[in-house]
Amino acid sequence: MSQSPRKPRRKLSSKYVNIGLIGCGSMGSELARAVQRGDAGPARIVSIFDEYVPGRNALAAELEHRPIEAETIPDLTAIPDLDLVVECASQVAVITHAEAVLAAGKSMLIMSSGALVEPGFLKAIMTAAEASGASIYVPSGAVGGIDALRASKPLLEQVTIVTTKKPISLRGAPGFARWENVDITEPTVIYEGSASGAVSLFPANVNVAATVSLAGIGPEATKVKVVADPESPGNVHEIHAVSKAGKFSFRFENMPHETNPKTSFLAVLAAIETLRSICEPGLRIGT
Ligand SMILES: NC(=O)c1ccc[n+]([C@@H]2O[C@H](COP(=O)([O-])OP(=O)(O)OC[C@H]3O[C@@H](n4cnc5c(N)ncnc54)[C@H](O)[C@@H]3O)[C@@H](O)[C@H]2O)c1
Repeated sequence: MSQSPRKPRRKLSSKYVNIGLIGCGSMGSELARAVQRGDAGPARIVSIFDEYVPGRNALAAELEHRPIEAETIPDLTAIPDLDLVVECASQVAVITHAEAVLAAGKSMLIMSSGALVEPGFLKAIMTAAEASGASIYVPSGAVGGIDALRASKPLLEQVTIVTTKKPISLRGAPGFARWENVDITEPTVIYEGSASGAVSLFPANVNVAATVSLAGIGPEATKVKVVADPESPGNVHEIHAVSKAGKFSFRFENMPHETNPKTSFLAVLAAIETLRSICEPGLRIGT
């Protein structure tokens, strides 16, 4: 898997990177608007798909250069001169379609990175990508420091992510079930275990845990701690890594995105920056 953003290896069909977008919800719409503003460099959304047709129609109507509305993901992938498929839908969409998209030689930017923690699936899509020459891009999301984890990967001994949220932000997560009616008045550890174990218990944290673990020592070895704290300044992620190259700590106190409060502002910015790194030739810093 390519975790480092770079241009698609196949020859581009035009001066633009032609993008097919899967998922026209909050993140997909933000990325489409960013592409339209030119924030992702020479790119354009040529086709979109969403199983929720009104959402797809609304985004198509909003975009200046109206994209083709595909009826299925295979239809979207089959559009001539498509360079890159951007997934902003769900883990199910990734698990169902990524292998075929990559086997068809289309590079993919995957937002639902939680889908990649299953080792058999990850191996299958990496094999498909290697065979066709396609790349798989995973944005750093709501955290940073991914570059340091990636660079020191063979030397890493321990990686821990501590996520602290207000109790209300953990409500509804399967891993919070026994705390739902408890009055939490001080910082309380709700979960301590592997990243792969956290994925099903705390789906809202799945992308951070998955991306950090894939960059570093893997979903089984990466430790995750989830803390409920009524005084938490928001969604806070701390990454602590011990390696033969040194000890690294990163802390992120994220603001929610203005139009999509369930997503961190940084996750939206990171996705736009990854797209820009793929689409725009020239200087690459920290990749
Ligand atoms: N890696 C990150 O930093 C990061 C950040 C935010 C969101 N995400 C992930 O990106 C995905 C989208 O997030 P969002 O906030 O835009 O969600 P959203 O619910 O606002 O939008 C998702 C859209 O995808 C569509 N969809 C879902 N499954 C589909 C399928 N199988 N086929 C076609 N369309 C499908 C839905 O109808 C919906 O319109 C989620 O999986 C989320 O976990 C990742």
